Amino acid sequence: MEGTEAADCRGHWNIPDTPQVCDFVGNQDFVHILAISGSLRRTSANSALVGAVAHLAPDTVDVSIYGELAELPPFNPDVNDDAAPTAVVRFRAALTACDAVLIASPEYAHGVPGVLKNALDWVVASGELIDTPIALINTSARATHAWTSLVETLSVMSARVVLDASITSRSAAGWTQTASLPTPRSHRP
Ligand SMILES: Cc1cc2nc3c(=O)[nH]c(=O)nc-3n(C[C@H](O)[C@H](O)[C@H](O)COP(=O)(O)O)c2cc1C
Repeated sequence: MEGTEAADCRGHWNIPDTPQVCDFVGNQDFVHILAISGSLRRTSANSALVGAVAHLAPDTVDVSIYGELAELPPFNPDVNDDAAPTAVVRFRAALTACDAVLIASPEYAHGVPGVLKNALDWVVASGELIDTPIALINTSARATHAWTSLVETLSVMSARVVLDASITSRSAAGWTQTASLPTPRSHRP
């Protein structure tokens, strides 16, 4: 990596005139990102993308991949914080420890995958996502319903969805900017 790039969290993801993750977090020297794929599928495109992000991140950006969506029990508001299941405690701790979150998720039946929504429900009341910058990557340009729903859910949870850091990826038909949305950025890497 170039010396100038190592000075902050910019790196080979740097796109001219594009806000970078370090523009949205307080710590400019080192950024810890928790990356979540909303898919449990073995050959998931979203999981592959999250893995690529972790692999390509510059030295000053640490990307941890959260891999326990399937371990989280169904959300139950009756469960008090002091009795929270171990997987929930670990998920909350992982969110607390990061500076920003990256979510790449498929859409199922025009909605957010149940496992991902379930995870988010576990942290509505405990508040680990409050003020957390979140980038939403859409690996399928058609999946506008789930993307919009995630923006709404995360916004009502007082997370900071960073639209400039949110992109729509290439669809089978080519590059497609999702329509009628608070525009995710669409670009060629
Ligand atoms: C049960 C089911 C429902 C789906 N519903 C939608 C949908 O409503 N809209 C859409 O764009 N894609 C839909 N898809 C396609 C997936 O979102 C798409 O294949 C996605 O890329 C899968 O992500 P993954 O490779 O990370 O698992 C659906 C797939 C499945 C299995």
